[in-house]
Amino acid sequence: MAYESTYKPGTAIERWLDKRLPIVRLAYDSFVDFPTPKNLNYWWTFGGILVVCLMIQIITGVILAMHYTPHVDHAFDSVEHIMRDVNYGWLMRYIHSNGASMFFLAVYIHMFRGLYYGSYKEPREMIWILGVVIFLLMMGAAFMGYVLPWGQMSFWGATVITNILGAIPVVGESIRTLLWGGFSVDNPTLNRFFSLHYLLPFAIFGVVILHVWALHVPGNNNPTGVEVKTRKDTVPFHPYYTVKDSFAIAAFLVLFAAFVFFNPNALGHPDNYIKADPLVTPAHIVPEWYFLPFYAILRAITFDIGPISSKLGGVIAMFGSIGVLFFLPWLDTSKVRSMRYRPTAQLWFFLLVIDCVFLGYLGGQPAEGLYVTLAQIATAYYFAYFLIILPLLGVLETPKPLPKSISEAVLKPAKPGAAASPQAAPAE
Ligand code: HEM
Repeated sequence: MAYESTYKPGTAIERWLDKRLPIVRLAYDSFVDFPTPKNLNYWWTFGGILVVCLMIQIITGVILAMHYTPHVDHAFDSVEHIMRDVNYGWLMRYIHSNGASMFFLAVYIHMFRGLYYGSYKEPREMIWILGVVIFLLMMGAAFMGYVLPWGQMSFWGATVITNILGAIPVVGESIRTLLWGGFSVDNPTLNRFFSLHYLLPFAIFGVVILHVWALHVPGNNNPTGVEVKTRKDTVPFHPYYTVKDSFAIAAFLVLFAAFVFFNPNALGHPDNYIKADPLVTPAHIVPEWYFLPFYAILRAITFDIGPISSKLGGVIAMFGSIGVLFFLPWLDTSKVRSMRYRPTAQLWFFLLVIDCVFLGYLGGQPAEGLYVTLAQIATAYYFAYFLIILPLLGVLETPKPLPKSISEAVLKPAKPGAAASPQAAPAE
């Protein structure tokens, strides 16, 4: 539903500005008086948490770039210089490297929230699609960032991933050579990765603005999936959700700080403290934890499919696992949005969560024997969920009855015999 602007410029300066560039009005209508469903739970705080993560990465990244040298002879040493000599350099680096992990943790929760509550469904397809674009950009930024310290994992990770791109027919070789800037991962590669790693977060920032804009057109989805009917179903964004989001951000930052101050290398690989050596291949080349499920999918295709080699098949499966998300709004045929009212879909959804965690585990294991078979089964389930299960469920399952409105769901009358207290309203 469309709402009138409630902004009243208070001072002469505000009135002057409002006639020329109504930016304060925009901010007021979007983040102060924005009517927000009154039943949003803590899963809805991750959008705000992600904005904070992006800001932290940009600020610490810009500071790190002041002391970092993008050259194969100096990069590794310049990172050690940051860690030892630069004032609070260790803090900037640990916040930035752990920040990448926290960013992905938050984005995965944010995405699964969207999957569970059907936030990608009509009329929010564009929010979701822009989200998938952000996710791809995040993956590119994180991959290139990991190459910059020029440790063993940086070098060999870059070598493995750029090499698989060579499997793409017709254009693959050219893309690989373009990324390398030569005939192997070397100084030109490090230079262009540095440049792109600096650029991408700002591109992400731009797409986030579109993402939030697209969100403000239909407004938020909510745990019931039932659209807002009247103002009574909403509360103003400020102070209700500014306070709730701030509390969640503070709690999230406690976890973040625990990693930074008590175990800053827990999520990294020790081999990246060894300077890159093109003549020594590490025993196991593994990406950061947040790429492991995709790495498992890449390595699960060990057989040729007709003219498609296993290598190309792996690349197609890996990119396909993200590509399929673009079509999700049309693959899910259910009329009911939230899985709260879809008990059968819920089971398959939780199996998908377990499947993704399991793929992550398998991505960290050597690609041999039973691990490969299990990765093949888990990959098959991942694709089956989106391409077969969701489309069929919409037709086959019987959902639970939906509440008429958000207010009805929140303020359900107490059952006969139960204590008549407004506090007894169910909350999830
Ligand atoms: C830098 C990364 C991202 C930022 C800063 C961000 C920011 C936000 C914010 C502030 C909201 C509103 C609050 C909330 O619902 O939590 C939101 C909603 C949403 N986001 Fe994101 N987002 C990001 C990535 C993604 C990704 C990767 C996806 C999915 C692929 C996604 C899908 C959605 C959807 C579907 C909604 C609507 C939620 C609803 O109303 O139910 N976002 N995002």
